[in-house]
Amino acid sequence: MSLLQLNFAEPFFSIDYLEDEASYHVSKKSMVINLAEYERENVLLDGERFIPPLKAAVVQDMTIRNIVRAVVVWDFERCDLRDKDTADAIKRSWKTLYEMSGIERHRGLPYYKSPKFCIGEGDRHMELNFCYVDKGLVPSGPHRDHDRDFEEVHAQILGYGMMRVYEYDDNTRIHQELNMAPGTVHDKMYDSRGRYPWHEYMSVTPGIYCPIELDRH
Ligand SMILES: [Fe+2]
Repeated sequence: MSLLQLNFAEPFFSIDYLEDEASYHVSKKSMVINLAEYERENVLLDGERFIPPLKAAVVQDMTIRNIVRAVVVWDFERCDLRDKDTADAIKRSWKTLYEMSGIERHRGLPYYKSPKFCIGEGDRHMELNFCYVDKGLVPSGPHRDHDRDFEEVHAQILGYGMMRVYEYDDNTRIHQELNMAPGTVHDKMYDSRGRYPWHEYMSVTPGIYCPIELDRH
């Protein structure tokens, strides 16, 4: 059993990391992201509702149960991106996507990334961070390969965005646009061998999303 207060997105977000907790009370309207790996490791909510692994939900005044591994983004709407001072402070605190990646196609994109939070070792290793996009309708650039072999999903925290999925071998033909509102994690897009189609995050409005990278095993 453990509870860790994460500071990677401070002071903009207060985030708790929970591991092997039987129950946990969420008072204020907050976002719970279930980071468990295996089927049936559901976070249980009131009634018969639950959050499956690698999905999220907005929860308020509720005791959540059966937590294998999860983060709680407390009162996530406290971060008001319409407030220019807040938006400017995030841009000063977080590095641009280009500064982080050094990839030429990222140069000039209005994407800003918080430091990463890394959990677990070996097969259970997972990394996540928050990413702020300063403008709507800006694609991040299609890609098919990553720097490690991981299962990748994205959780929308604030604003609206989409995961654009292209054909496996054609980065000009869009296959699906998976829309995301706060509390949505798009469906997995990799196959059983970890093979990805071309894909990219695209903002719809200014917003914040959370890339989640779970090492494959
Ligand atoms: Fe990706």
